Amino acid sequence: MRLAAVAFDAYGTLFDVHSVVRLCDALWPGKGAAVSQAWRTKQLEYTWLRTLMGRYADFASVTEDALRYACASLGLALDAGRVSQLMEAYRRLALFPDVAATLERLRGLRLAILSNGSPSMLDPLVAHSGLDASIGDVLSVDAVKTYKPSPIVYQLAVDRLAMPASSIGFVSSNGWDACGAKAFGFTVFWINRTGAPVDALGVAPDHVIDSLARLPDLIGE
Ligand code: 2OP
Repeated sequence: MRLAAVAFDAYGTLFDVHSVVRLCDALWPGKGAAVSQAWRTKQLEYTWLRTLMGRYADFASVTEDALRYACASLGLALDAGRVSQLMEAYRRLALFPDVAATLERLRGLRLAILSNGSPSMLDPLVAHSGLDASIGDVLSVDAVKTYKPSPIVYQLAVDRLAMPASSIGFVSSNGWDACGAKAFGFTVFWINRTGAPVDALGVAPDHVIDSLARLPDLIGE
């Protein structure tokens, strides 16, 4: 396999969305994991629903709306101070432990992020984590005002990297995103950290691995 570039999904793949659990737990003792799980689930649902409705709102708005819904569904009080604390935490999410060494080994390739995140979320996140040193292109769906897994989003990477889809590897821990990227035409690596089954969407990722650390060997770097 000869790839010239690798595009990474951000949330859940490079950055651990559940690193907010500790703050959630401090705000609502014993409920941290439940809040984080409901928040992430609703955040993704809202991206898909808004896309179907033709009513795009950026990922910062969607993420905040999802937080409000998650807390309401769990009967937890949420004031403006807590919203801004948690949204700020989302701009400082932890990297998964296998990210830094993997990116170092892939430094011979062009590396990008292709994410649902809006620039107001992604830019501080990437800067805070230090990934701006190894990832040259941070692409947001906000440029096309629609969400993954629309092919319009994956086309952003082809256009920015100025190479065919067949030269680009796409890496995501989100199974539905991996399938969307495969349907588009990328060589896809699904990071399946939880041992979930492949989504039944008529396409399957090219490679299923349990850690980013296995990526460089597969790509031949
Ligand atoms: C991302 O686009 C899907 O959350 C995921 O970063």
